[in-house]
Amino acid sequence: MTNELRLRDKVAIITGAGSSGPGIGNGKATAMLFARQGAKVLIVDSQVDRAEETLKLIQEENGVASVFQADVTNASDCESMVEAAMSRYGRVDILDNNVGISRRGTVLEVSETDWDQVMAVNVKSIVLASKFAIPAMIENGQGSIINISSIAGLRAHSSTPYTASKSAVIGLTFSMAADHGRDGIRVNCIAPGLPYTPMVAPRMNDDLREVRKNAAPLGTEGTGWDVAYAALFFASDESRWVTGVTMPVDAGLAATSPVTFSTLDQQKY
Ligand SMILES: NC(=O)c1ccc[n+]([C@@H]2O[C@H](COP(=O)([O-])OP(=O)(O)OC[C@H]3O[C@@H](n4cnc5c(N)ncnc54)[C@H](O)[C@@H]3O)[C@@H](O)[C@H]2O)c1
Repeated sequence: MTNELRLRDKVAIITGAGSSGPGIGNGKATAMLFARQGAKVLIVDSQVDRAEETLKLIQEENGVASVFQADVTNASDCESMVEAAMSRYGRVDILDNNVGISRRGTVLEVSETDWDQVMAVNVKSIVLASKFAIPAMIENGQGSIINISSIAGLRAHSSTPYTASKSAVIGLTFSMAADHGRDGIRVNCIAPGLPYTPMVAPRMNDDLREVRKNAAPLGTEGTGWDVAYAALFFASDESRWVTGVTMPVDAGLAATSPVTFSTLDQQKY
């Protein structure tokens, strides 16, 4: 056994690293975990108060981090974000493209504004943040980019714009991994299932939490930490030979059909 920190001296940019409400979401947990493992973390969020909450938690654990306010759908904000990481910490090793929003509706219902907003936040932000981070990673001769998709990228789930955008994140991961492998840059994707996080909490009640929990083979409730531990693997050199992969972190939800577990199994089929 070694006590070596898994991200010692690495510099990580995490977008959407605040949380949209009280508690610990995927981005916040990832920022905290990366800092615990020795990374210097740039906490990026459009809501500075949320980012500062993450910073406080990291500083309480003596981690190294700072806040950068940015709207990652904006190219010049993304450019300034990478410049901030370079000027504060001197390099960029890891980019965790975590921001994501959901808007409701079928193709008949969704407004053009909502469609454009979901695509901008969930897809364009990855293109823009990566556009400026990749040259900095090329300077180091290596880098790891982690894109956050969803079970909704693998299955019809929740809403058309969200599902379409999260499938696009998986396609983007293939393409970026193919384009930048020879630069020493790995690009992987995480598809979280149905964890209980501040993003979904406002729409939940106890009954719905039970349904979500029991939908997957493991039958346990996930948290932001489950997503963060998967991100840690992709960020660290332990995954040096892994690129272009989408990993469901979902208690087995993507491995099964709804009939198997949420209905038949509960009736002792
Ligand atoms: N249950 C879940 O939580 C779940 C399930 C599957 C996938 N995901 C994905 O996980 C990711 C987010 O997880 P989280 O728990 O950290 O979410 P969260 O909603 O708690 O936090 C996201 C943060 O992003 C920030 N943000 C939103 N738009 C921004 C923009 N344009 N520029 C900069 N910051 C912006 C928000 O202010 C917020 O603090 C998303 O991509 C989401 O689609 C979540």
